[in-house]
Amino acid sequence: MGHVGDPLLMPGHDTRAMFSRIAGRYDRVNTVLSLGLDEGWRRRSVRRALARPGLDVLDLCAGTGKVALACCTAPHRPRLVVAADFAEPMLEAGHRSASRRGLPVTFVACDCQRLPFRSASFDVATCAFGVRNLVDLEAGLREAARCLRPGGSMVIMEFMNPGQRWARRLVSWYVKKAIPLLGGVLSGSWSAYRYLPDSIDRFLTPPELVRVLLDCGFESVETEERTLGVCSVFYATRGREGWETR
Ligand SMILES: C[S@@+](CC[C@H](N)C(=O)[O-])C[C@H]1O[C@@H](n2cnc3c(N)ncnc32)[C@H](O)[C@@H]1O
Repeated sequence: MGHVGDPLLMPGHDTRAMFSRIAGRYDRVNTVLSLGLDEGWRRRSVRRALARPGLDVLDLCAGTGKVALACCTAPHRPRLVVAADFAEPMLEAGHRSASRRGLPVTFVACDCQRLPFRSASFDVATCAFGVRNLVDLEAGLREAARCLRPGGSMVIMEFMNPGQRWARRLVSWYVKKAIPLLGGVLSGSWSAYRYLPDSIDRFLTPPELVRVLLDCGFESVETEERTLGVCSVFYATRGREGWETR
């Protein structure tokens, strides 16, 4: 079990360099390793988050912009979609997909633990498979809360260990044995796909993450499990109390 504030990363681990290295193959490898399920997970969460048209969306730890792009094609079209990440090669890959598909996403290179946006400027913040990678989880969540308008929504998707023992055994075999091997072969980066199961093991459990969200300015957190609990989704509302402007 990980603790908030503990560095989840192994000494010398550089997340930004790691994602920059695998950016060119990231999307393809993800689709193979998730058995094609990841797109559906993102689409479903985005549909729920974008409950009406014309919202301003901030996608955090956006990587190649998969969630941001899904927002642009959701039934309720947003007004603005910004994709933020600190690994520029990931953003460049996302920019190329967005341009190819003519989708209006603004890509911003920045650290999600210190966002360069004004307070209360977005209605929805999303973060898919990103919070596990933040060195300072609380700083990232507080920044997300700061940038959301009071009453705004935060959607977090994250890989977690399933709660049911039989599912945990099956998933554990896949994540610990198959993913490092397949991911290593397909991406050419063995360390990146050894890091994935380690970081899942060291991360919080779903109730622990709910508690951190409540401490960081969010309220009424709902959780959903997808595909045997491999992927957990958290829907939180930005509280109306205690938000300051910057
Ligand atoms: C597993 S990828 C997820 C990408 C994307 N959200 C998706 O659904 O595929 C995690 C991303 O988090 C980014 N990241 C990790 N820590 C970050 C930070 N402090 N600031 C900005 N981006 C960060 C990495 O660069 C990487 O692109």
